[in-house]
Amino acid sequence: MCGIVGAVSHRNIVPVLVQGLQRLEYRGYDSCGVAIHALPQGAASGSGGLKRARTTSRVAELDAQIAADKTAGTPFEGHTGIAHTRWATHGAPAVHNAHPHFSHGSGEAGNKPGKVALVHNGIIENHEQLRVDLQAKGYVFVSQTDTEVIAHLVDSLYDGDIFEAVKAALKQLHGAYALGVFHKDEPHRVVGARAGSPLILGVGAKANGSAQADENFLASDAMALAGVTDQIVYLAEGDVVDLQLGKYWIEDAQGKHMDREVKTVQAHSGAAELGPYRHYMQKEIFEQPRAIGDTLEGVVSITPELFGDGAYSTFKDIDNVLILACGTSYYSGCTAKYWIESIAKIPCQVEIASEYRYRDSVPNPKSLVVTITQSGETADTLAALKHARSLGMEQTLTICNVATSAMVRECKHAYITRAGVEIGVASTKAFTTQLAGLFLLTLAIAQTKGRLSDAQEAAYLAEMRHLPVALQSVLALEPQIIAWADNFAKYENALFLGRGLHYPIALEGALKLKEITYIHAEAYAAGELKHGPLALVTSEMPVVTVAPNDALLEKLKSNMQEVRARGGVLYVLADADTKIDNAEGIHVIRMPEHYGALSPLLHVVPLQLLSYHTACARGTDVDKPRNLAKSVTVE
Ligand code: M6R
Repeated sequence: MCGIVGAVSHRNIVPVLVQGLQRLEYRGYDSCGVAIHALPQGAASGSGGLKRARTTSRVAELDAQIAADKTAGTPFEGHTGIAHTRWATHGAPAVHNAHPHFSHGSGEAGNKPGKVALVHNGIIENHEQLRVDLQAKGYVFVSQTDTEVIAHLVDSLYDGDIFEAVKAALKQLHGAYALGVFHKDEPHRVVGARAGSPLILGVGAKANGSAQADENFLASDAMALAGVTDQIVYLAEGDVVDLQLGKYWIEDAQGKHMDREVKTVQAHSGAAELGPYRHYMQKEIFEQPRAIGDTLEGVVSITPELFGDGAYSTFKDIDNVLILACGTSYYSGCTAKYWIESIAKIPCQVEIASEYRYRDSVPNPKSLVVTITQSGETADTLAALKHARSLGMEQTLTICNVATSAMVRECKHAYITRAGVEIGVASTKAFTTQLAGLFLLTLAIAQTKGRLSDAQEAAYLAEMRHLPVALQSVLALEPQIIAWADNFAKYENALFLGRGLHYPIALEGALKLKEITYIHAEAYAAGELKHGPLALVTSEMPVVTVAPNDALLEKLKSNMQEVRARGGVLYVLADADTKIDNAEGIHVIRMPEHYGALSPLLHVVPLQLLSYHTACARGTDVDKPRNLAKSVTVE
């Protein structure tokens, strides 16, 4: 989703801005751009006015445009600038809609050259009314974006001080935003603001005579500044920041000066090494044994304190769990429901965050509200948490992969999964590590409620420790899955079936397939087949079936017969002892071992690999599938 980088420096800052955008590429985008306070031709300082480059192509193309300017003798260089990757919401992905936007002044003819440059993440809900008001004042709009109104609004309120103009403009905005803004008449000054979208300040090195001295940065994500600075201030909701050379100034939503803590953050570079892999998704699938091992490292026994101080009394007080999440994280929550109800034996409700935040529900102050999010920045999940709190549910916990994220800061308790940076838009290692964290949560609640014996705890811990080895043997199935994928690539539709604990795994398998192969895929609880979807089954319909050897196996076998009787072709992931064999119309891959309650962590892996290799066979952009973003920071 949209990304922001901004900087004030003594050096030419364009390479830093472009590298920052490259590090944000993994979030997904459809256009990008950079604007600078340009140096006068041939000068090392002074003001050459606003300059901008934008493209609907990749950041590499933006870089090429900038290099071409240099070759043409008009170098694109400046000490102050802002840059952006855009994921279209208002207005198509097109150069004229790409950020940064410039104001187009309010001269009589509405054609005074622009003085304000601005980038924006989020959505301005009252943009239509603002547009009408600004047009009445003579402002000319050249894009369909909600962002352009902010540039004009700031311009209309400017009276020699860009910080004051931005603050005045914010009073008129309804919606979510992270902003980076500068003004033509104020070199070495960038203003940032956030409400509902993340924004950080990167503090540069102190004055030491070097070219890097005294610079300050703005970004939507610390990763954008990896290698530039590790001194990060996480701006709070409502903060406005004034970045200048060697100093910055933060005010909260009430206009009060704030001294926010500067944290040292080891942000991993987004450009992590691919190593022997073709794509980040493949690399991340193969990292799962390590990711699970790291996530469970240090868990020597089950204790509520794994989730932070005071978790014992929280777990003691609650009588149910309410899980809020989106997408893949929602499916890990759906899996956890089975664990929580069968092992901890308390009711568990799982809600899609974007639905929960707007529906009338019956709040229970004794709920433990659990949010699940890889990024910790998903707007719908953050809003759902806020909504739950507004209904009086104060016991909150998150399973999250980013320790410094907004979600971790907002929740009372947390378990940080250690998947490492996930670059592929399709979530893989984040999912399995979430499952590991949720299984620990189940056991910790069960223990607090007196529903976990020492023997059960020891047995579950032993199974969890064996997971990395078990995952390695599942990954060794890759050649068989590649053979399936070659077949699969020709289909345009697919069904996924699972039962019980593995129904959410079927849902996750179908989501993975849709996301990166663009094959239409749906998942059903296998018992539902005869209630409708069976009508879709023909010889053109592959039916992927997750078939562990559990209590529902015989029922599942009957469901598979229903498919075969209609000519459907089955692709079955079967545990070794299920007695499901290859036959006409039945392709079987044998899972190395049956894994009881933890089996979902293993069965999902072949489904990830199937999607991955089918996408490769179809030639899609695996790591950056069309229309999708990694971090969904708008509603
Ligand atoms: O960062 P989050 O876990 O909150 O993200 C939630 C979803 O946007 C995410 O899981 C999405 O569904 C993935 N692209 C799925 O692969």
